[in-house]
Amino acid sequence: MFAKNVLITGGAGFIGSNFVPYFCTKYPDYRIINLDKLTYAGNLNNLSECDAMPNYVFVHGDICDTSFVVKIFDEYDITDVIHFAAESHVDNSIANPRAFVETNVLGTFMLLDAFRKKLGDSSRNRFHHISTDEVYGTLGTNGYFTEKSAYAPNSPYSASKAGSDMLVRSYFHTYGLNTVTSNCSNNYGPKQHSEKLIPTIIRHALAEKPIPIYGDGKNIRDWLYVLDHCRAVDLIFHQGRIGETYNIGGHTEKTNLQVAFKICDLLDKTRPRKSGHYRELISFVPDRPGHDRRYSIDFTKLETDLGWTAQESFSHGIRQTILWCLSANIWDPKK
Ligand SMILES: NC(=O)c1ccc[n+]([C@@H]2O[C@H](COP(=O)([O-])OP(=O)(O)OC[C@H]3O[C@@H](n4cnc5c(N)ncnc54)[C@H](O)[C@@H]3O)[C@@H](O)[C@H]2O)c1
Repeated sequence: MFAKNVLITGGAGFIGSNFVPYFCTKYPDYRIINLDKLTYAGNLNNLSECDAMPNYVFVHGDICDTSFVVKIFDEYDITDVIHFAAESHVDNSIANPRAFVETNVLGTFMLLDAFRKKLGDSSRNRFHHISTDEVYGTLGTNGYFTEKSAYAPNSPYSASKAGSDMLVRSYFHTYGLNTVTSNCSNNYGPKQHSEKLIPTIIRHALAEKPIPIYGDGKNIRDWLYVLDHCRAVDLIFHQGRIGETYNIGGHTEKTNLQVAFKICDLLDKTRPRKSGHYRELISFVPDRPGHDRRYSIDFTKLETDLGWTAQESFSHGIRQTILWCLSANIWDPKK
């Protein structure tokens, strides 16, 4: 008998596969049911440490499949949901927006509705929706996104996440569901899919290929180490106030070019090229359409109300990320 049966969606993705082992280990009295469709972005190898854990179950399936989702709620007597599953890559959302609307909007609706029908407005049962700072659009040189910032999504990805946030909000206001939403800045760390910026820089550098940087490389992101995000989700899931949203960020603003320089300089030390420096591989490519210029998060609410603060420095976190990429051979074309 477990204290909770927590349905985690998208647990085989980047953040999920960092969160699930963390959560299973920290809460042995919770049963963790990881529901994942295993799209190209899901990788069960990143969860091998959970295979022997008695409180871990993997279920292969699609959050958009209503009868399947309802069956899982019943079969595992789900008490709570932490919803990571999404289509998450902005570039893919420009090429194929439909999948984003289906999984991010419709899939979130399916989960909310299954939750409502089974658990109603019970204050003991929580629905934690994982979202992004990209719903707020773009910033100029100054200012931060707060929980009060207006939504102004600019890509099909951020628009679909904004839509899902609004559905969650409506299920709190209309049906009294015990919801909480967290909007996080860009994550980095082990297990991230090789399509994303930081793994792309590392992968191309190690393969001695041009390192593609969009536009002038001056787009700014507020980077957060993935385990700091996991710790924030843990705190918000347990202690966040019903119906509230919480921003999560790292106070680590960097241009894409600064990130590329940092990685290249670290690789020069850990795995020097036969001749020259990795920075020489940096190559500017045409900008992404609708590319947001700057994100920066004000996470005072999370800090003040729940006592969270990031523990990892960018310098250390990026080293850990590089070490993981080296151990996972992410630049190997056969992989
Ligand atoms: N990565 C970031 O920097 C970041 C920042 C803020 C918020 N987020 C949010 O965090 C969540 C996780 O992001 P990530 O980077 O780990 O994403 P990811 O793309 O690495 O993983 C997504 C996971 O969801 C699964 N999935 C996709 N469609 C599904 C479906 N229809 N049914 C069931 N499973 C499905 C995939 O198989 C994959 O395992 C997303 O909601 C994303 O919007 C990500």
